[in-house]
Amino acid sequence: MKVHLPRDAAAKALGAEAVAQALRAEADRRDVPLELVRTGTRGMIWLEPLLEIERDGQRHGFGPMTAADVPALFETEDAHPKALGPVEELDWMKRQTRLTFQRCGVIDPLDLGQYEAHGGLAGLRRALGMTAAEIVQEVTESGLRGRGGAGFPTGIKWNTVLNAEGPQKYIVCNADEGDSGTFADRMIMEGDPFCLIEGMAIAGLGTGATRGYVYLRSEYPDAIEVMEEAVRRAQAAGVLGDNLLGSGRAFDMEIRVGAGAYVCGEETSLLNSLEGKRGVVRAKPPLPALEGFLGRPTVVNNVISLATVPVIFEKGAAFYADFGLGRSKGTIPVQIAGNVARGGLFETAFGMPLGTLVEEIAGGTASGRPVKAVQVGGPLGAYMHASQFDTPFGYEEFDGQGGLIGHAGIVVFDESADMLEMARFAMEFCAVESCGKCTPCRIGAVRGVETLERIRAGDGAAVELLADLCETMKDGSLCALGGFTPYPVMSALRHFPEEFGAAREAAE
Ligand SMILES: Cc1cc2nc3c(=O)[nH]c(=O)nc-3n(C[C@H](O)[C@H](O)[C@H](O)COP(=O)(O)O)c2cc1C
Ligand code: SF4
Repeated sequence: MKVHLPRDAAAKALGAEAVAQALRAEADRRDVPLELVRTGTRGMIWLEPLLEIERDGQRHGFGPMTAADVPALFETEDAHPKALGPVEELDWMKRQTRLTFQRCGVIDPLDLGQYEAHGGLAGLRRALGMTAAEIVQEVTESGLRGRGGAGFPTGIKWNTVLNAEGPQKYIVCNADEGDSGTFADRMIMEGDPFCLIEGMAIAGLGTGATRGYVYLRSEYPDAIEVMEEAVRRAQAAGVLGDNLLGSGRAFDMEIRVGAGAYVCGEETSLLNSLEGKRGVVRAKPPLPALEGFLGRPTVVNNVISLATVPVIFEKGAAFYADFGLGRSKGTIPVQIAGNVARGGLFETAFGMPLGTLVEEIAGGTASGRPVKAVQVGGPLGAYMHASQFDTPFGYEEFDGQGGLIGHAGIVVFDESADMLEMARFAMEFCAVESCGKCTPCRIGAVRGVETLERIRAGDGAAVELLADLCETMKDGSLCALGGFTPYPVMSALRHFPEEFGAAREAAE
């Protein structure tokens, strides 16, 4: 009996270890030979622990499993109450375009042989035959934009580092993943770590960097463990080190664990933290691409940006750029969370309307009540109203609606959400997480909390003050923590003025 079961943190939190234990015990009891492969997750979190039995080369799913559901698996598979049918045929899987996450949930994350058998290392091999300028050109032509939040073109960033002078250059992977409702970075690090390693090695070849770091948040112990082991195995196999795949070229990397502060996801704050300093934002210029880690030219890229590089080199820039919408090329792993019937990771070409993701893919709210608002892009993202549901998932399209995609996390709220409280929370979050370097954020966020409390107490005149404060924070903050906190605040006010005691016209 060949069984696949995730050992991803989400699956474990939902009881995967108890299911694994029950499976081993039951197989022993019945004297059935068991081959149990622990994988990453497919991303259908509402079905976790999702167990898959391989039969005739096809995987049949069962979930969400409990230990008590295990014995029946040995009797009648298809009539099992948790039987879902072939996993690849499930609507959630069939409607996706899995490029970055093609192997996640499919292979044993730490088996380099399986990684290679499923297309891994093909991109690195191709890159080893190219010049640095050709590598950068390929990334530029793919249209890949940073998945960490700002959507900055990855090729342009790499080109700046390639052309920068410096005795040592670095690739720094931003795995701080602090946005609410996001888990794509964690999922790929736990489910397909070699993909990130390969992407970083290609980034090194493209820019002349020979050292890399993954800045990984301490709240992700499973990802830390998997990534550290994957790096050790890649080094032992010559995928990292002084002689990449026997080419004579060098790139090596290590994992560094951050102590957990939202602002340490901001790239300059991250670099300070990586250098052992306090995680406080640096003024730009100089850009990290020119003076980054230890003052040297540094690429700082998000996990998903880097983990998407191998498929671009495996299949070609034109293949990747063929997916998507306008200047949003390729695919985006949307992370669906909050009050939803089906939560999880859904990788799709850019362009799917927000309403389709919320109503069809996520199946609406878990509570069954109507959707009130959807926050897209983490704690700094705007609340989108149902009237904006036809907005296609794309950088410019969201920008045109006063929103942002950020790291592509969407958090759904039903009609019971208190939008004034959500606005107050946004200000409070900013006050707590502020690095304190600039006044509009450090002081402004505290005043924002107070102003929203005045509005709650019935002081209608404070609404104008709130709008004014938000303008100041937007224009005067040094980084996007203070600069973007006005997005959730003002979008809540704009869409739900009654809850702020304001007339609709005053909020527009
Ligand atoms: C307050 C704040 C928090 C951030 N947190 C993250 C994060 O957790 N992960 C991330 O990749 N980028 C984060 N960013 C964006 C980074 O500063 C940077 O733009 C990104 O790592 C660049 O990589 P990319 O071009 O691949 O997106 C954050 C930015 C700000 C202002
Ligand atoms: S906006 Fe806030 S987090 Fe950003 S530099 Fe200013 S004080 Fe620090």
